[in-house]
Amino acid sequence: MTLVDTASRHAPTDAPLIAPLVERWSPRAYDPTAELSDDTIRTLLEAARWAPSANNVQPWRFIVARRGTPAFAAVHDALMGFNQAWADSAAALIVNVAETVDETGAPRRWATYDLGQAVAYMSLQAQHDGLHTHQMGGFDADRLAEAFGLGAGLEVISVSAVGKLGDAAALPEPLREREVAPRSRKPLDELLIAAA
Ligand SMILES: Cc1cc2nc3c(=O)[nH]c(=O)nc-3n(C[C@H](O)[C@H](O)[C@H](O)COP(=O)(O)O)c2cc1C
Repeated sequence: MTLVDTASRHAPTDAPLIAPLVERWSPRAYDPTAELSDDTIRTLLEAARWAPSANNVQPWRFIVARRGTPAFAAVHDALMGFNQAWADSAAALIVNVAETVDETGAPRRWATYDLGQAVAYMSLQAQHDGLHTHQMGGFDADRLAEAFGLGAGLEVISVSAVGKLGDAAALPEPLREREVAPRSRKPLDELLIAAA
Protein backbone atom coordinates (compact mmCIF):
# COMPACT_ATOMS: atom_id res chain seq x y z
CA MET A 1 0.00 0.00 0.00
CA THR A 2 1.34 3.44 -0.96
CA LEU A 3 0.38 5.96 1.69
CA VAL A 4 1.11 9.51 0.72
CA ASP A 5 3.74 11.10 2.94
CA THR A 6 1.44 13.35 4.95
CA ALA A 7 4.24 15.80 5.79
CA SER A 8 4.55 16.51 2.07
CA ARG A 9 0.86 17.55 2.08
CA HIS A 10 1.26 20.14 4.84
CA ALA A 11 0.31 23.66 3.83
CA PRO A 12 3.38 25.76 2.98
CA THR A 13 2.11 28.67 5.05
CA ASP A 14 3.44 32.22 4.99
CA ALA A 15 2.76 32.62 8.72
CA PRO A 16 2.73 30.08 11.58
CA LEU A 17 -0.60 28.30 12.05
CA ILE A 18 -1.98 25.75 14.51
CA ALA A 19 -1.29 22.14 13.55
CA PRO A 20 -4.73 21.04 12.26
CA LEU A 21 -4.79 23.98 9.84
CA VAL A 22 -1.35 23.14 8.49
CA GLU A 23 -2.02 19.41 8.32
CA ARG A 24 -5.56 19.39 6.90
CA TRP A 25 -5.89 18.57 3.25
CA SER A 26 -8.47 16.80 1.11
CA PRO A 27 -7.28 13.36 0.06
CA ARG A 28 -9.17 11.06 -2.29
CA ALA A 29 -7.41 7.83 -1.30
CA TYR A 30 -9.19 6.30 1.69
CA ASP A 31 -8.65 2.99 3.45
CA PRO A 32 -11.62 0.81 2.36
CA THR A 33 -11.37 -1.26 5.56
CA ALA A 34 -11.33 1.59 8.10
CA GLU A 35 -14.47 2.11 10.17
CA LEU A 36 -15.67 4.96 12.35
CA SER A 37 -16.90 4.10 15.84
CA ASP A 38 -20.01 5.63 17.35
CA ASP A 39 -17.76 7.65 19.67
CA THR A 40 -15.75 9.03 16.75
CA ILE A 41 -18.88 10.12 14.93
CA ARG A 42 -20.23 11.65 18.10
CA THR A 43 -17.01 13.65 18.47
CA LEU A 44 -17.23 14.92 14.88
CA LEU A 45 -20.83 16.01 15.38
CA GLU A 46 -19.94 17.60 18.70
CA ALA A 47 -17.25 19.67 16.96
CA ALA A 48 -19.84 20.89 14.45
CA ARG A 49 -22.26 21.61 17.28
CA TRP A 50 -19.89 24.10 18.89
CA ALA A 51 -19.41 26.24 15.81
CA PRO A 52 -20.66 29.82 16.06
CA SER A 53 -23.80 30.80 14.15
CA ALA A 54 -25.86 33.92 13.57
CA ASN A 55 -28.12 34.44 16.62
CA ASN A 56 -26.97 30.99 17.76
CA VAL A 57 -29.62 29.50 15.47
CA GLN A 58 -27.42 26.48 14.62
CA PRO A 59 -29.08 25.87 11.24
CA TRP A 60 -26.96 22.78 10.46
CA ARG A 61 -28.24 19.26 10.06
CA PHE A 62 -26.32 16.14 9.09
CA ILE A 63 -26.93 12.72 7.59
CA VAL A 64 -24.17 10.32 8.64
CA ALA A 65 -23.87 7.30 6.35
CA ARG A 66 -21.28 4.66 7.19
CA ARG A 67 -19.76 2.56 4.41
CA GLY A 68 -21.62 -0.71 3.92
CA THR A 69 -25.04 0.69 4.82
CA PRO A 70 -27.97 1.40 2.48
CA ALA A 71 -27.66 5.07 3.46
CA PHE A 72 -24.05 5.12 2.24
CA ALA A 73 -25.12 3.55 -1.05
CA ALA A 74 -27.85 6.19 -1.42
CA VAL A 75 -25.41 9.05 -0.83
CA HIS A 76 -22.77 7.51 -3.07
CA ASP A 77 -25.33 7.01 -5.86
CA ALA A 78 -26.16 10.73 -5.71
CA LEU A 79 -22.53 11.82 -6.18
CA MET A 80 -21.28 12.93 -9.56
CA GLY A 81 -19.22 10.31 -11.38
CA PHE A 82 -15.94 12.13 -10.72
CA ASN A 83 -16.64 11.83 -6.99
CA GLN A 84 -18.09 8.31 -7.13
CA ALA A 85 -14.74 7.23 -8.58
CA TRP A 86 -12.99 7.64 -5.23
CA ALA A 87 -15.51 8.30 -2.45
CA ASP A 88 -16.61 4.66 -2.17
CA SER A 89 -13.60 3.94 0.07
CA ALA A 90 -14.43 6.59 2.66
CA ALA A 91 -15.46 5.23 6.06
CA ALA A 92 -18.47 7.54 6.01
CA LEU A 93 -20.19 10.08 3.82
CA ILE A 94 -21.72 12.95 5.74
CA VAL A 95 -24.41 15.01 4.03
CA ASN A 96 -24.23 18.62 5.19
CA VAL A 97 -27.67 20.21 5.26
CA ALA A 98 -28.65 23.82 5.94
CA GLU A 99 -31.99 24.82 7.41
CA THR A 100 -32.47 27.75 5.08
CA VAL A 101 -35.86 29.02 6.33
CA ASP A 102 -37.14 29.68 9.85
CA GLU A 103 -40.37 28.49 11.44
CA THR A 104 -42.30 31.37 9.80
CA GLY A 105 -40.94 30.53 6.34
CA ALA A 106 -38.59 33.52 6.25
CA PRO A 107 -35.16 32.88 4.71
CA ARG A 108 -32.25 32.39 7.10
CA ARG A 109 -29.70 34.70 5.55
CA TRP A 110 -26.69 33.13 7.25
CA ALA A 111 -27.69 29.45 7.11
CA THR A 112 -25.17 28.29 4.53
CA TYR A 113 -22.45 30.44 6.08
CA ASP A 114 -23.13 28.88 9.48
CA LEU A 115 -23.22 25.35 8.05
CA GLY A 116 -19.85 25.98 6.40
CA GLN A 117 -18.35 26.91 9.74
CA ALA A 118 -19.78 23.79 11.35
CA VAL A 119 -18.32 21.63 8.59
CA ALA A 120 -14.96 23.37 8.99
CA TYR A 121 -15.02 22.63 12.72
CA MET A 122 -15.83 19.01 12.01
CA SER A 123 -13.04 18.78 9.44
CA LEU A 124 -10.44 20.19 11.81
CA GLN A 125 -11.53 17.91 14.66
CA ALA A 126 -11.29 14.96 12.28
CA GLN A 127 -7.80 16.03 11.24
CA HIS A 128 -6.74 16.35 14.87
CA ASP A 129 -8.08 12.83 15.54
CA GLY A 130 -6.04 11.23 12.74
CA LEU A 131 -8.82 11.20 10.17
CA HIS A 132 -9.16 13.04 6.89
CA THR A 133 -12.11 14.71 5.21
CA HIS A 134 -12.89 15.77 1.67
CA GLN A 135 -15.83 18.05 0.98
CA MET A 136 -17.78 17.71 -2.25
CA GLY A 137 -20.13 19.98 -4.12
CA GLY A 138 -20.50 17.52 -7.01
CA PHE A 139 -23.75 15.67 -6.25
CA ASP A 140 -27.42 15.61 -7.19
CA ALA A 141 -29.13 17.57 -4.41
CA ASP A 142 -32.67 16.63 -5.51
CA ARG A 143 -31.78 12.97 -5.43
CA LEU A 144 -30.41 13.26 -1.90
CA ALA A 145 -33.44 15.25 -0.75
CA GLU A 146 -35.73 12.54 -2.10
CA ALA A 147 -33.68 9.64 -0.73
CA PHE A 148 -33.73 11.09 2.80
CA GLY A 149 -37.15 12.73 2.70
CA LEU A 150 -35.84 16.25 3.25
CA GLY A 151 -38.70 18.73 3.49
CA ALA A 152 -38.86 22.31 2.25
CA GLY A 153 -36.30 24.53 3.92
CA LEU A 154 -33.71 21.77 4.28
CA GLU A 155 -31.07 22.22 1.61
CA VAL A 156 -28.16 19.87 0.92
CA ILE A 157 -25.10 22.09 0.53
CA SER A 158 -22.21 19.63 0.50
CA VAL A 159 -21.16 16.07 1.23
CA SER A 160 -18.03 15.23 3.25
CA ALA A 161 -16.06 12.03 2.83
CA VAL A 162 -14.46 11.03 6.13
CA GLY A 163 -11.98 8.27 6.77
CA LYS A 164 -8.43 7.05 7.18
CA LEU A 165 -5.82 7.60 4.50
CA GLY A 166 -5.59 4.78 1.99
CA ASP A 167 -3.62 3.56 -0.98
CA ALA A 168 -2.92 6.43 -3.36
CA ALA A 169 -1.71 3.94 -5.98
CA ALA A 170 -5.23 2.46 -6.11
CA LEU A 171 -6.68 5.72 -7.41
CA PRO A 172 -7.45 5.98 -11.13
CA GLU A 173 -5.48 8.53 -13.13
CA PRO A 174 -5.67 11.55 -13.15
CA LEU A 175 -6.71 11.39 -9.48
CA ARG A 176 -3.49 9.61 -8.50
CA GLU A 177 -1.51 12.51 -9.89
CA ARG A 178 -3.73 15.09 -8.17
CA GLU A 179 -3.25 13.31 -4.84
CA VAL A 180 0.37 14.43 -4.77
CA ALA A 181 0.11 17.69 -6.73
CA PRO A 182 1.61 20.71 -4.96
CA ARG A 183 -0.83 22.51 -2.68
CA SER A 184 -1.37 26.14 -3.50
CA ARG A 185 -3.30 29.22 -2.50
CA LYS A 186 -3.63 32.75 -3.77
CA PRO A 187 -1.07 35.07 -2.22
CA LEU A 188 -2.18 36.88 0.95
CA ASP A 189 -2.04 40.26 -0.83
CA GLU A 190 -4.73 39.14 -3.23
CA LEU A 191 -7.19 38.49 -0.37
CA LEU A 192 -6.92 41.93 1.07
CA ILE A 193 -9.31 44.58 -0.13
CA ALA A 194 -7.94 46.97 2.44
CA ALA A 195 -5.68 46.83 5.47
CA ALA A 196 -5.03 50.02 7.35
C1 LIG B 1 -17.84 23.46 -1.06
C2 LIG B 1 -16.75 22.57 -1.61
C3 LIG B 1 -17.02 21.77 -2.71
C4 LIG B 1 -16.04 20.90 -3.20
N1 LIG B 1 -16.37 20.03 -4.22
C5 LIG B 1 -15.50 19.05 -4.56
C6 LIG B 1 -15.91 18.00 -5.43
O1 LIG B 1 -17.07 17.91 -5.85
N2 LIG B 1 -14.99 17.05 -5.74
C7 LIG B 1 -13.71 17.08 -5.26
O2 LIG B 1 -12.95 16.18 -5.58
N3 LIG B 1 -13.31 18.06 -4.42
C8 LIG B 1 -14.17 19.04 -4.04
N4 LIG B 1 -13.80 20.00 -3.12
C9 LIG B 1 -12.43 19.98 -2.57
C10 LIG B 1 -11.62 21.18 -3.05
O3 LIG B 1 -11.28 20.99 -4.40
C11 LIG B 1 -10.38 21.33 -2.15
O4 LIG B 1 -10.79 21.65 -0.85
C12 LIG B 1 -9.45 22.41 -2.70
O5 LIG B 1 -8.88 22.01 -3.92
C13 LIG B 1 -8.32 22.73 -1.73
O6 LIG B 1 -7.60 21.58 -1.41
P1 LIG B 1 -7.32 21.17 0.11
O7 LIG B 1 -8.68 20.97 0.76
O8 LIG B 1 -6.55 19.88 0.03
O9 LIG B 1 -6.58 22.28 0.74
C14 LIG B 1 -14.75 20.87 -2.62
C15 LIG B 1 -14.48 21.70 -1.52
C16 LIG B 1 -15.46 22.52 -1.01
C17 LIG B 1 -15.15 23.36 0.21
